[in-house]
Amino acid sequence: MSDRKPMDLDLARADFPPGFVFGAATSGYQIEGRRFGGCGLSHWDTFAATPGNTVRGEDGATACDHYHRWREDLDLVRDAGLDCYRFSISWSRVLPEGRGAPNPAGLDFYERLVDGMLERGLQPFATLYHWDLPVPLADLGGWRNRDVADWFADYTEVIMKRIGDRLETAATINEPWCVSWLSHFLGEHAPGLRDIRATARSMHHVLLAHGRATQAMRSLGMKNLGLVTNFEYASPADDSPEAARAARLYDGIYNRWFLGGVFDKAYPQDVLEGLGPHMPEGYEQDFDIIGTPVDWLGINYYTRKVIAPDGSGQFPALKEVEGPLPKTQMNWEIFPEGLHHFITWTHRRYTKGLPIYVTENGMASPDTLSDGRVDDPARIEYLNRHLKEVRRAIDEGAPVKGYIVWSLLDNYEWSLGYEKRFGLVHVDFDTLERTPKASWHALGRALKDKG
Ligand code: FCB
Repeated sequence: MSDRKPMDLDLARADFPPGFVFGAATSGYQIEGRRFGGCGLSHWDTFAATPGNTVRGEDGATACDHYHRWREDLDLVRDAGLDCYRFSISWSRVLPEGRGAPNPAGLDFYERLVDGMLERGLQPFATLYHWDLPVPLADLGGWRNRDVADWFADYTEVIMKRIGDRLETAATINEPWCVSWLSHFLGEHAPGLRDIRATARSMHHVLLAHGRATQAMRSLGMKNLGLVTNFEYASPADDSPEAARAARLYDGIYNRWFLGGVFDKAYPQDVLEGLGPHMPEGYEQDFDIIGTPVDWLGINYYTRKVIAPDGSGQFPALKEVEGPLPKTQMNWEIFPEGLHHFITWTHRRYTKGLPIYVTENGMASPDTLSDGRVDDPARIEYLNRHLKEVRRAIDEGAPVKGYIVWSLLDNYEWSLGYEKRFGLVHVDFDTLERTPKASWHALGRALKDKG
């Protein structure tokens, strides 16, 4: 790994089934530049403007200025030999007030972007919500307010009437765990709440919104509709029954709650023991909407966590402890076996034959530009090891249809600002110049033969 010569991936396109797609992902707030093109404020702007919430107070006002540089960015997707581009639509760019009058420049932007993908032979994979809730809706309680499901369905209809006919796939929500638990219980993402009632409500409303938006897209005749969930493997810190219980509950909150809602039309009992008293009244009546059939599931996977009881006696009474495996710049352990676990488990237990896409996988590293090149051998090795786990899951019969790297570009990594670099392409945040990294070149070599 210290070898500075270009490294190759061990697997190439020919090692995957015909039609398997490779792609790169981004999200609106993380790359577009919120201050351009009449985009309204989202709760990420106000969260970042509050001291202490983000590193150096950084926000997505300019980000990668993808709003103006999107042509160059799509060229980079195409020239890496990739087949699809997973992007998100910013709700506040389409509807600056969250509801009501659309921003014509916002609608035009996404239409140009989608047409730009098609012109380059790239399949558009759209996500409707990647965390940038318009502030007027945050003022009304955001994800705590049940009405968010209707607002989301209305927004879905506005944008999909414009671009829905040209998408390869559409996903409703990116990572419901982050929208709810991370943002309303842990307080690490906007709106930065730490409140169990807000948490329980957001964990339910985010799925209700998913169901309503799925129905709205079906009414427009759209196909290939999915949800993107994120997973973390939970390992108990020791052999004690208490650690096993804590890891099991972590798995429930993170992994089983959202799949349970959508595929079982029920929430897992162990999590309900803590959240039950805080759930909205009559929530059980919503499962028919939440369980509206989807056509595929997206799996985002990065790491595992080592979990121990925290001794507090207060739900969920668990904490993360330092694990022994090598870590990325995020301090996340590298555990590729977890990706195999979640693909095969999800397929057997929940999705039962529905197509699965790995919609995000990748790592951050402190990549630097020198002599016009960026060597990132650790990322190549990370992708290598995870692709082998995808291959292993396919060999065992899991219907994985694609693998999408997070991310195309170094970008705004939320509360951690601009210093965590996840891109296949390096971005200089002073000049906004893009430089493909060695991993981008390695992918290009592995994928060049499109058959
Ligand atoms: C995922 C998010 C994405 C990015 C990566 C590192 O949870 O979907 O926006 O932050 O993690």
